[in-house]
Amino acid sequence: MNWGMKNRISRIIKPKTGRCVMLAVDHGYFQGPTTGLANLGKTVEPLLPYADALMITRGALRNWIDPAVDIPIILRVSGGQSILKELSNEVITTNIDDAIRINASAITCSVYVGGEHEKETIGNLSKLVDEGEKYGIPVLAVTAVGKEMARDARYLGLASRICVEMGAHIIKTYYTEDFGKVVEACGNVPVVIAGGKKLAEMEALQMAYNAVSDGAIGVDMGRNIFQSDSPVGMIQAVRAIVHEGKSADEAYGIYEQSKK
Ligand code: R5P
Repeated sequence: MNWGMKNRISRIIKPKTGRCVMLAVDHGYFQGPTTGLANLGKTVEPLLPYADALMITRGALRNWIDPAVDIPIILRVSGGQSILKELSNEVITTNIDDAIRINASAITCSVYVGGEHEKETIGNLSKLVDEGEKYGIPVLAVTAVGKEMARDARYLGLASRICVEMGAHIIKTYYTEDFGKVVEACGNVPVVIAGGKKLAEMEALQMAYNAVSDGAIGVDMGRNIFQSDSPVGMIQAVRAIVHEGKSADEAYGIYEQSKK
């Protein structure tokens, strides 16, 4: 791995703990103004001090984020579909020149294994890896799960391993029972979990705890943070699990305390 690639990964995955709390706010690229992100800037601003990286599109970044901000950017560079149509129908929406102009620390796209456009989305990832390798920019692959797919270790292991084989540098997938098998399928490639739909805070914290206990290096969480009744308390709680090894109960205490 070249120096630039290693350096960018070290900005995202903190060398001190080998762990990472990514804040995902890229949902609008196919969901529009998702609950909590209509005014993205207002939502994100208080969370930035507690996030290790921000996952976002170039349009949202230029609209709502101050360029003076000191946080590594994981730039969402795929899209082209909406919640009104087939979700796997993604193309690459942002070229590598713009990612470099933005000073992205990583680029990301979704891969729909088993989806109608499986081949194209695997092709998108491969092209990003070719470009990322050329310029030292790591690629985070998101295993996006179609409605018809089971979110079990067998499926998520299959999808994650395909992303690894295509050369992805970080894998983002979902937590499931037997998650250790998914992590094992990824070899030395670090794995983070998405939060998914909003859960009760304790449930989301337990999921984050289980994921890191089973080998994930952290989370790339969105709705379970910014749709919480205490987004700052929630990201602090997630951070305590990921970086300080706190239990879900201890982290829940941090979240509860934030509301007082
Ligand atoms: C989905 O494809 C997007 O990358 C989301 O940003 C991602 O799923 C993480 O957000 P959440 O924790 O809300 O699922």
